[in-house]
Amino acid sequence: MVDLSVKLGDLKLDNPIIPASGTFGYGQEYAELYDLNKLGSISIKGITLEPRLGNETPRIAETASGMLNAVGLQNPGLDKVIENEIPNLKNIFTKPIIANISGFSIDEYVECSQRLSQIDQIEILEINISCPNVKGGGMSFGTDPKLAAEVTKAVKQVSTKPVYIKLSPNVTDIVEMAKACEQAGADGISLINTLLGMRIDIKEQRPILKNITGGLSGPAIFPIALRMVYQVYQAVNIPIIGIGGIMKAEDVIEMMLAGASAVQIGAANLIDPWICPKIIDDLAILCEKLNINKLTEMVGKAHVES
Ligand SMILES: Cc1cc2nc3c(=O)[nH]c(=O)nc-3n(C[C@H](O)[C@H](O)[C@H](O)COP(=O)(O)O)c2cc1C
Repeated sequence: MVDLSVKLGDLKLDNPIIPASGTFGYGQEYAELYDLNKLGSISIKGITLEPRLGNETPRIAETASGMLNAVGLQNPGLDKVIENEIPNLKNIFTKPIIANISGFSIDEYVECSQRLSQIDQIEILEINISCPNVKGGGMSFGTDPKLAAEVTKAVKQVSTKPVYIKLSPNVTDIVEMAKACEQAGADGISLINTLLGMRIDIKEQRPILKNITGGLSGPAIFPIALRMVYQVYQAVNIPIIGIGGIMKAEDVIEMMLAGASAVQIGAANLIDPWICPKIIDDLAILCEKLNINKLTEMVGKAHVES
């Protein structure tokens, strides 16, 4: 039997497959399709202090090998998530939960982190400083290493759970960003969020998205995500969750060889809602084919010894 278990710091997951924030809601819709307990963990939809309706529609556009979204952090707000969404998820899911948190100020990140870290079964706080679809928050923290470090420090002070910072690929130097977060006390790094992009309707001669720009995700971004995970693995000593364009078991192994300790699956859930359990099954078969007994031994294996 292949051992698919992986470790994120002290946290053990039965397998490395985690649905990515924003593509899995709070789990309820997918629970109608399969037993969520098959998953390693779930990163729930981004939480903000106040409820948000998100951006105006259209806020999704198709692209070659991917999609653009400008959802804009639609969520019921911290109180409702704590009152309803998390208890509902706990009724059907017994594995560790990753709480994905967004904010428009450091105080907002701090308040959300402090309250969410007190909930058992939430084992990781994933601080999204990389949302490209909201004004005045999100990505502005994720493109400046000083601000990223400030958010990290502030959240670490109030959190009793490991803090993972979710980085934006929309920067010149991803390594600088990751190092700044590590030095500020981050327990791990999630990367990547979506890449800023746009499409124009040639009949209307106007941008397709009401927000004009959106975040590109899906298989189109896999090589970029892989490159960033590889580079960051070389520069930091904290675990990395690899995200971006993963569609199949082979992609998971590739991401882990680059340095990811676990992975998140995003846009693929929107194409095939059964994709996560399928990838878990395929992963066991693929490991056997590749003579891999312990999946965790693949982490960072592609790095040439210097
Ligand atoms: C519709 C949609 C909503 C998203 N919402 C969030 C969010 O709330 N918080 C977050 O950190 N990332 C969010 N993301 C980004 C994904 O979690 C992921 O980082 C990104 O899509 C890249 O992975 P993928 O190519 O597998 O989709 C969202 C992505 C999509 C497509």
